[in-house]
Amino acid sequence: MDRIRIVGGNQLSGTIPISGAKNAALPLMIASLLTSQTLTLENVPHLADVEQLIRILGNHGVDYSVNGKRGHQNGVGGYSRTINFTAANIVDTTAPYELVSKMRASFWVVGPLLARMGVAKVSLPGGCAIGTRPVDLFIDGLQKLGAEIDVDTGYVVASAKNRLRGDRYVFPKVSVGATHVLMMAATLARGETVLENAAREPEVVNLADCLIAMGATIHGAGTSTITIQGVDELTGADVRVIPDRIETGTYAMAVAMTGGDVLLEGAQPDLLQAALDVIGRTGAEITPTNAGIRVRRNGAGITPVDVTTEPFPGFPTDLQAQFMGLMTMSKGKSRITETIFENRFMHVQELARLGAHITLSGQTAIVEGVGKLKGAPVMATDLRASVSLVIAGLAAEGETMVNRVYHLDRGFERLEEKLSGCGAVIERISG
Ligand code: EPZ
Repeated sequence: MDRIRIVGGNQLSGTIPISGAKNAALPLMIASLLTSQTLTLENVPHLADVEQLIRILGNHGVDYSVNGKRGHQNGVGGYSRTINFTAANIVDTTAPYELVSKMRASFWVVGPLLARMGVAKVSLPGGCAIGTRPVDLFIDGLQKLGAEIDVDTGYVVASAKNRLRGDRYVFPKVSVGATHVLMMAATLARGETVLENAAREPEVVNLADCLIAMGATIHGAGTSTITIQGVDELTGADVRVIPDRIETGTYAMAVAMTGGDVLLEGAQPDLLQAALDVIGRTGAEITPTNAGIRVRRNGAGITPVDVTTEPFPGFPTDLQAQFMGLMTMSKGKSRITETIFENRFMHVQELARLGAHITLSGQTAIVEGVGKLKGAPVMATDLRASVSLVIAGLAAEGETMVNRVYHLDRGFERLEEKLSGCGAVIERISG
């Protein structure tokens, strides 16, 4: 299994290009199931999760080609790509356990399959390293749109014989995935659907813009009330994946931690304003430019800042681990409270190996900043936790070896290349 070796202590300086967002690309790819025509997605990052979803969609009959070439001829490697997805014929409405269990977002195919084909049988995704992550909101919401749903031997079996029909659904809790799914399903339902307390994340807006380009009628995406007028069919479209706000925030925190001066090229400040404000309060200088976001930190130490994760536009849970990494080297005490997932502190014990002082009290981590971290072998159990160890390793003295690198490959495109291009000593060790 690959590992990443880091020798910490160098400041970062230079330019890091920001890739297309994983969490935007995945639902956009799934939206291709809604039409028999071709959906072209630009700026798709080259990530393990994207490749996995291509396989899952292929099982339903979705054909794809990369930059005009057949996917398999183009091979792997390369940068953010343009990919054409065509679901001319849906050949299978079942998403089996073997595929869904590998990636939770693949459960989201339930919405488009049900809306277009009137049936879907999708394996329950199960729990994962960051919490139990149930699917009750998806089931409630689809039932509200007229679906009949049974949960049988680990599968959600859904049908809507005479099409889904629009209705009003109030999410009891904000859910990004359930908002994606109900919005996609409602585009092909009869009549009007109103989603209240919907997720406002930029990825929801990217998906809504895509669906609108495909012929859907949607208002209010990006607010907590989304209204969808169902149409009979959708068409192909050409849509660009937004820049990855979590990758942006991660590298901004890396610079805030190591010091230096980096341009995050192509980054969009409005996608992560809450996080940028917090990073600014720690003492880093954040400057939006025409080319992206410039992050600088010189001299003075890192100021502790308290943070609570919230749905957008609040501070994102997907940056919580990285921010904790930054706070381990602050000049005092900070409190980091996780409100989205109940078990997202797996990085705490690994950061402790690097010398961090962190105590947990329920959903809050109390971080006592230490003057410096020291490199060590570490391992993490999810994507964002893994990258928090990478940025801590960049700032730590000596060598850090990050094991189980496949988590990083799920969500960070060309991580080693981007960081070593800015002066970091970081390499992948294969095998
Ligand atoms: C998306 O997950 C992201 N994944 C996550 O990023 C991100 O952490 C999360 O949103 C929150 O921002 C993708 O976009 C692929 P939710 P999602 O439904 O949609 C509870 C990463 O590292 N809930 O908004 O699965 C749930 O348990 C990943 O890239 C229910 O209770 O998250 C959680 O507590 C990790 N019932 C809360 O809602 C449901 O039916 C928010 O989850 C659905 C969710």
